[in-house]
Amino acid sequence: MRFLDACYGRPVDTTPLWIMRQAGRYLPEYRDLRKGNDFMTFCKTPALCTEAALQPMRRYDLDAAILFSDILVAVEAMGVPVEFNPEPRLPRPVRTAADIAALRIPDPLKDMGFVMEAVAKIRAAVPADKALLGFAGAPFTLATYMIEGGGSREFLHAKSLMFNDPTAFRDLLERIADTIAPYLIAQIDAGASAVQLFDTWAGLLSPADFEAFALPAARAVIRRVRREGVPVIYFVNGIAPLVELAAASEADVLGVDFRVRLSDVIARVGSDAVVQGNLDPSLLLGPADLLRERAASIVAEGRAAKGHVFNLGHGITKETPPDNVTVLVDAVHQAGRR
Ligand code: CP3
Repeated sequence: MRFLDACYGRPVDTTPLWIMRQAGRYLPEYRDLRKGNDFMTFCKTPALCTEAALQPMRRYDLDAAILFSDILVAVEAMGVPVEFNPEPRLPRPVRTAADIAALRIPDPLKDMGFVMEAVAKIRAAVPADKALLGFAGAPFTLATYMIEGGGSREFLHAKSLMFNDPTAFRDLLERIADTIAPYLIAQIDAGASAVQLFDTWAGLLSPADFEAFALPAARAVIRRVRREGVPVIYFVNGIAPLVELAAASEADVLGVDFRVRLSDVIARVGSDAVVQGNLDPSLLLGPADLLRERAASIVAEGRAAKGHVFNLGHGITKETPPDNVTVLVDAVHQAGRR
């Protein structure tokens, strides 16, 4: 399979690609499917999740499907209510050691069985030569949502707990890791061919704090999840100052955002590494010639690594005209031809 071959640095006929947040609001058929369903209910309905995950696969020659769910599903299963409007809001945030001690470690099949049902349904519907990605939020990123109660600019609540009570903060990271590791293993058992850990907010940390908090928590999950033949991708948003540290996560593939040159990342981690990324999602707004040109130069940069999975450097925006994705997929497969 082209996607798995790239993840393990084996020869490929062309560069494989998938697109972070490839299912979702930029697709009119997703907006139709979502009508009348609130987002959390949608995530708990395997038939809807399956349909949403398949929508981009029908339109585009992508090399991998991704489970349709959200990183905050596991947070709700830990006992922290989550609302989407569409930005996430957690009305009862986790702020104290006592709040942390009250969290549950969910059983993946009993408490999130709907996710595994969706994985199995999507796997059955996606062609055998395409991968299916499972995913979870990395411990640090999920901790920031739980503590802040939503998104944030400065993450002062999260950082203040981290600095004032590092023991409690580490306890929280450990409980999240104890939730996420068996959850990802259950996704693999249900049919996921690879898994991605999203560390969307780890780039807000100084390198020293990334090394002290986010990295060991992510690595603990990666060590527990690794299975023969099932690559783990670690995506760190804002990775530029953290590249060497993130490479110590022991992930098979390092996912890279768009604020750094892919060739610099490869020079820093070495040509034995496998990388994923990293087109600025805004290029999908056009013009098509610039999109093709930038995609081709990232594909060319990626050839210096042992393996390269093309992706955006962050999620696709809801303003993206769907036809531009066709332009991108063709450009990558054409530029990557061996
Ligand atoms: O194809 C796919 O990738 C879809 C599956 C998916 C969703 N969320 C669906 C979703 C995945 C992999 C995610 C991951 C996710 N969720 C991340 C990590 C990736 C990243 O962007 O850094 C984060 C930080 C979240 C948290 C989250 N969920 C936010 C900030 C939002 C609000 C706005 C937005 O779309 O970014 C969500 C809601 C959400 N998750 C939507 C979708 C399709 C939109 C909900 C809707 O339909 O109204």
